[in-house]
Amino acid sequence: MAVSVLGTEAPFLAAAGRRPSPVTPVWFMRQAGRYLAEYRAIRAHHSLLEICARPDLAAEVTLQPVRRLGVDAAILFADILLPLVPMGLELEFVSGEGPRIGNPVRSAAQVEALRTVDPATDLGPVLEAVGLVRRELGPATPLIGFAGAPFTVATYAIEGGPSRHLLESKRMMYQAPQLWHRLLSLLTTVLGDFLAAQVAAGAQAVQVFDSWVGQLSQADYQSYVLPHSRALFERLAGLGVPRIHFGVGTDHLLESMAEAGGEVIGLDWRIPLDRGWERIGRNRAVQGNLDPVALFAPLPELRRRVTDILRRAGGRPGHIFNLGHGILPETPVDQVRAVVDLVHDYAAQGR
Ligand code: CP3
Repeated sequence: MAVSVLGTEAPFLAAAGRRPSPVTPVWFMRQAGRYLAEYRAIRAHHSLLEICARPDLAAEVTLQPVRRLGVDAAILFADILLPLVPMGLELEFVSGEGPRIGNPVRSAAQVEALRTVDPATDLGPVLEAVGLVRRELGPATPLIGFAGAPFTVATYAIEGGPSRHLLESKRMMYQAPQLWHRLLSLLTTVLGDFLAAQVAAGAQAVQVFDSWVGQLSQADYQSYVLPHSRALFERLAGLGVPRIHFGVGTDHLLESMAEAGGEVIGLDWRIPLDRGWERIGRNRAVQGNLDPVALFAPLPELRRRVTDILRRAGGRPGHIFNLGHGILPETPVDQVRAVVDLVHDYAAQGR
């Protein structure tokens, strides 16, 4: 248990475990990134992949939002696509376009050719960055490790980049289900080992990003994704850290995602927080769920929306305040800072 000098548990870990905390903890997905001038200053000299490969830079960028915003958790600076590189895929980030994989995986031969990964050697710099960050962070600010969910990582491996309809991924699912399941099993092993290694290196919680899973029907989620996500969460169960399960556009999948696993379930902004919490059950914690675009609203409107989420949480232990998805690059930093203060002050005002 992370305990401060005062003997109180870190608010983030308390909420993840549904234990009472004096404040609602708050952090932001993509809190390290282009909306911060100090991040852009580093990015001016280094590519995204260079930052990820240099533990000193990755650690620095991880700590920037902690210093600037006073958030209650740090998230390791890395990317969900990094494990694909030692598996044998050629990954680059094209400015203005996003990730691109030069040799996407479509055939049985290409799936067979994928390598398994030893995180200690193949992803060593990421694990080193975990250690560096932990040395800098105080006990009140835990470090979250992360990975993509097998489904979301598979969509990049198969499509070769962002994709509107996930045509190639669904084609593999429907035409070659055995091949699909083989690929997802392999990814589940790689991602589970990677997350376990992050925890061994010092990560105090893990988040699994299933960002594009909302593209699937409930039936397809059950058949093609849930068994793998469940296996991943089972692999992580013995690590002794809270597990956060996050997706976008998941109104129709919440019960299934909760069934797959996670002490904490991420909610996006489309569902009122209290209704989402009711659906997944009060025996889980929830994380969310401000619309990232609300950070562009005038301050009174932003305040109204933040307060509405806190009111819906009702002071019940087990709410981690976050956005419903990642911060956008154009976001005004002052507005982000204002949300941190609003969330922290809410408890002090007696709710
Ligand atoms: O602060 C943090 O949240 C930690 C760092 C982090 C990054 N990527 C760094 C990054 C995290 C948690 C991720 C996760 C990630 N990466 C996801 C899941 C979360 C989500 O947003 O749904 C996904 C789908 C990816 C894949 C990815 N990486 C895409 C689609 C892109 C391009 C889109 C974009 O925002 O530019 C990236 C690039 C990326 N990864 C950036 C950052 C800060 C921006 C690129 C830059 O600095 O040039």
